[in-house]
Amino acid sequence: MNHAATIFVGVMLTFASAWLGLVFLPYLQLGNIEPVAIEGSSDTYPKPLGGLAAQGRGVYVAGGCVYCHTQQIRPEGFGADIERGWGPRRTVARDYMYDRPHLFGTNRTGPDLANIGARQPSSKWHHLHLYNPRITSPGSVMPSFRYLYEKRKITGEPSKLALELPEEWKPAAGYEIVPTAEARALVAYLQALDHTTPLKEAETP
Ligand code: HEC
Repeated sequence: MNHAATIFVGVMLTFASAWLGLVFLPYLQLGNIEPVAIEGSSDTYPKPLGGLAAQGRGVYVAGGCVYCHTQQIRPEGFGADIERGWGPRRTVARDYMYDRPHLFGTNRTGPDLANIGARQPSSKWHHLHLYNPRITSPGSVMPSFRYLYEKRKITGEPSKLALELPEEWKPAAGYEIVPTAEARALVAYLQALDHTTPLKEAETP
């Protein structure tokens, strides 16, 4: 007997049900999500990233930060993300509206960064940390991102952007370490990572 037709229909049904469950139903649920008005203000949430921060997102992807850092806060009862201080609420679909492709991450060698902009707003701190994580966080296993910084001979006035390094990390006299355009964009991106705006849908677990 020839079962080719039955097998063909069976295979098609399997693909169709997977497509329905993984693509079509989520699209119906979340496809037309919109920004919402922030209570007590004329502003809306979320906002697309500004120019420099949007560029910095590319540096984040290229630097492989996503291999060690997540950007997702799990609800209470599903781990200790909120207790650890990684965010005041869980993250929801609306937080990722403009995040394409999203950078959820899968591995937490380092802390979650969904709200790093709120937790650590200082650009000075971020530059020292990226230049060498051991300066701000002794014993850190995060790699240095020195290629994002330039060692320059000081000619005339030292740069206003030069890193204020502790004595043991200072370059030779007459030299300074300055962030490249990529480093500045990356820090603008980290400072823009802030999903602390309260949202109704994040209240129910
Ligand atoms: C090999 C894993 C690894 C990679 C890759 C990595 N990190 Fe980290 N990161 C860590 C670890 C571990 C820590 C915690 C110790 C510390 O603060 O340095 C950390 C901490 C941080 C913190 C401070 C978080 C806090 O809550 O204080 C920031 C910000 C950060 N990383 C940004 C980045 C960025 C941006 C990149 C990419 C350019 C990156 N990391 C790449 C492992 C990594």
